[in-house]
Amino acid sequence: MQMNSGSGGTGGFGRRAMLGGTVGMALAAAGLSAGNAWGDAPFHDDPFALGVASGDPWPDGFVLWTRLAPQPLAPDGAGGMPPYSVDVQWEVARDERFRSVVRRGRTRAVPELAHSVHVEVSGLQPGRHYYYRFRAGGVHSPVGRTRTAPPPHSRPKELDFAFVSCQAWFEGFYTAYRHLAEEDVDLVLHLGDYIYENAIDAMGGVRNVPVAAELRPEPMDLVQYRNRHALHRFDPDLIAAHRVHPFAVVWDDHEVEDNWARDRSKADTEPDQDPAVFRQRAAAAFQAYYEHLPLRLPNKPNGFEARMYRSLRYGRMATFHILDTRLFRDDQPCGDGTRSGCDERLTPGRTILGPEQEQWLHRGLGRSDTTWNMISQQIPVTQVDTDPGPGQAFVMDFWDGYADARRRLFKEITDRSVSNPVVLTGDMHRHLAADLKQNFDDPESPTLGVEFVGSSISTTKDGVDLDPSGARLLAANEHIKFTNFQRGYVRCSLTKESCRADFRVLPYVTTPGAPVSTRTSLVTEAGRPGIQPA
Ligand SMILES: [Fe+2]
Repeated sequence: MQMNSGSGGTGGFGRRAMLGGTVGMALAAAGLSAGNAWGDAPFHDDPFALGVASGDPWPDGFVLWTRLAPQPLAPDGAGGMPPYSVDVQWEVARDERFRSVVRRGRTRAVPELAHSVHVEVSGLQPGRHYYYRFRAGGVHSPVGRTRTAPPPHSRPKELDFAFVSCQAWFEGFYTAYRHLAEEDVDLVLHLGDYIYENAIDAMGGVRNVPVAAELRPEPMDLVQYRNRHALHRFDPDLIAAHRVHPFAVVWDDHEVEDNWARDRSKADTEPDQDPAVFRQRAAAAFQAYYEHLPLRLPNKPNGFEARMYRSLRYGRMATFHILDTRLFRDDQPCGDGTRSGCDERLTPGRTILGPEQEQWLHRGLGRSDTTWNMISQQIPVTQVDTDPGPGQAFVMDFWDGYADARRRLFKEITDRSVSNPVVLTGDMHRHLAADLKQNFDDPESPTLGVEFVGSSISTTKDGVDLDPSGARLLAANEHIKFTNFQRGYVRCSLTKESCRADFRVLPYVTTPGAPVSTRTSLVTEAGRPGIQPA
């Protein structure tokens, strides 16, 4: 009955012990009749079909997530749940058989949040694995595994994590997640495009399964965004990865709409050209995002207001400064797209983070006492000239369209002697590694840090090692040291001496079952900014 999507490396979690309390008691507490359909046999289908997840580890805890949805793809967006709240119990144990339970409690899954639950657990030991599960209507969830961060002032020998982005469900299978579930990492960063808003054809693109008519159009309201999330989330490989690793997630553009900027839609013929309409649309998208992901309460959106930016600390090894480069940015200059000769992109004072987030980041970088400062965000910070000839052309959506914001960031890094900045990026649907230069047009200018861009999980379908665009990027940008146009993710290993990035690639995603391999490994050494072969 229960969907157990365990990967080979972590399967065999026990799920035997029953939690205290009864469904009848829970229903009575909710003012409901124990004799209704939610009494003895409350769920006809597994309410945990969307799996379980954990996120945002701190030294003493994390957030646990699930969403009760016995029919995740029900077109009304309710997941097959009734329009009233349901009691959910949870427990956390040191062992996967739950012999040593260290925390337990109960919460309510409410229809206003699509019966999602977000439980923040604290008071745990740092730097160790925990196992967790939920129970609702007499049914146990699959057992999840997660891990706390190390003590704040400790000096861990090593930190392993991965980062991912861009997972258009209809453009590829999530085989990369199946492999990621087998990796030995402490954390997975999702840097955006968790869903795609594009209209979907009747057979779900390369997935080749019938998709209900209600789930296919571009989402505009809460029900449609819920459906779009459920469609992406109801995938056994994605469920498997969430079940075994804590995630730290942040959105990019496609969680709302391609290339949105603050309250501006991209130029099209939809009614959200009116910013008031767009704000309503974005508020629905934000809420559905929160409902489907393991986010802490400070990151819960309130209408069109949301504070997704935050930091996570892993002892004195690393700080992850997690940025939101969408909600507070100025509009793309020169009408967006790829442009040459756009002076607007150089306008002083233009912002991509907004003043508050920018101050928060600069302060956080300045005060950081960790060896590594991982600036985890969406779009390329490095200059990306797309013109292989003598001219220059830039993508207005990238930091290139916000050149003065990049200048201010680099000035902070230099003025405050920020320790080992490493930018982690998604969005490009390609692997890429670059040196961050004080002046990108002068190869002799100082290198301030490095940027690693991770390819997509599935977006843009199957790829090739070196595509024509990739060859042009290498030809036009001396500071770009590597690119690859296959799907995959990046696995990173930090020590106090070095940061190593393994660029993991899959030869195909339009059919299932691809193997994974490391296309290349690159390193940057502490105190010596710049990319080197591993
Ligand atoms: Fe993307």
